[in-house]
Amino acid sequence: PKEKGWRTPNLFLFQGFWCQPKEIRAIISIQNHFRAQDTDVILATIPKSGTTWLKALTFAIVNRNNFNVHHNHPLLTNNPHELVPFLEYKLYADSNCLPDLSLLPSPRIVATHVPFGALPDSIKTSNCKIIYVCRNPFDTFVSMWHYVCKIRPESLGPLPIEEAFDLYCRGVTGYGPYWDHMLGYWRETAPNKVLFLKYEEMKVDACNSLKKLGEFLGFPFTEEEEREGVIKDISNLCSFQNMKDLEVNKKGKGAISDFENRDLFRKGMIGDWMNYFTPSMFERLSNVMDEKLEGSGLSFTVS
Ligand code: A3P
Repeated sequence: PKEKGWRTPNLFLFQGFWCQPKEIRAIISIQNHFRAQDTDVILATIPKSGTTWLKALTFAIVNRNNFNVHHNHPLLTNNPHELVPFLEYKLYADSNCLPDLSLLPSPRIVATHVPFGALPDSIKTSNCKIIYVCRNPFDTFVSMWHYVCKIRPESLGPLPIEEAFDLYCRGVTGYGPYWDHMLGYWRETAPNKVLFLKYEEMKVDACNSLKKLGEFLGFPFTEEEEREGVIKDISNLCSFQNMKDLEVNKKGKGAISDFENRDLFRKGMIGDWMNYFTPSMFERLSNVMDEKLEGSGLSFTVS
């Protein structure tokens, strides 16, 4: 099956989710080649749900003894996507040339949008850890629509919000349906396998999320570090406003493909959907989500 794409002419249904042909090629090579190690950390998200932020936080936690957040920290001069590569857009982007993963620093931190069910077996069977961030589907939709409008090739013409919304509610969005994506990770019950975080909770209490991340990653913050303000420093370094204002993110290009880095930082808030949704859009997406998430125990804060 094939549907109209958001940023490419078409999206194709592959192993139960929607993606572009070049992503399919990359995912097949990931499935065939990637061998997870017990120490690996996999950051998993659906696009526009907080991937950039999660990359920054994880990198900063794991490397906190190597750099000073005020002076020589790599996040001051690199976009997080340059420090934590995507499996499908960076490491396996060229399906003719497999990556040499031994070059990655240990622990290896990699990111992916691939749904849980389509991850290579070794990620599921090894002791590697997965961190999943999900964001309420209303804001994720608005964020996605804005992003796509910026990066969509002109030849495809504009993507009216109504059209994008209809595709979204039918599950047709990169790596979607969104509900299947989050439920895939939500339902994984192997102990200590998946840390499931919500963008909204991270926004409300970033320090608490940092503590959870540190603990889960095996890099827990000590009481002394907490007293010295290490958690606060990392939270500030990775905050939306700080990252958005960094020169590398204002002027740089190419952290993901050849797009402008600044397009990765828009508003970074909870509830922007209210500026775009009509009452009928709200009702339609609420009904879809209620139906799909029913009985799962997963729910969202939307304002
Ligand atoms: P908005 O478009 O709503 O502003 P992703 O990183 O998965 O592509 O998600 C992008 C969304 O996360 C955008 O949301 C972006 O502004 C927001 N974002 C980027 N960096 C952030 C940060 N450090 N803290 C909070 N939100 C951030």
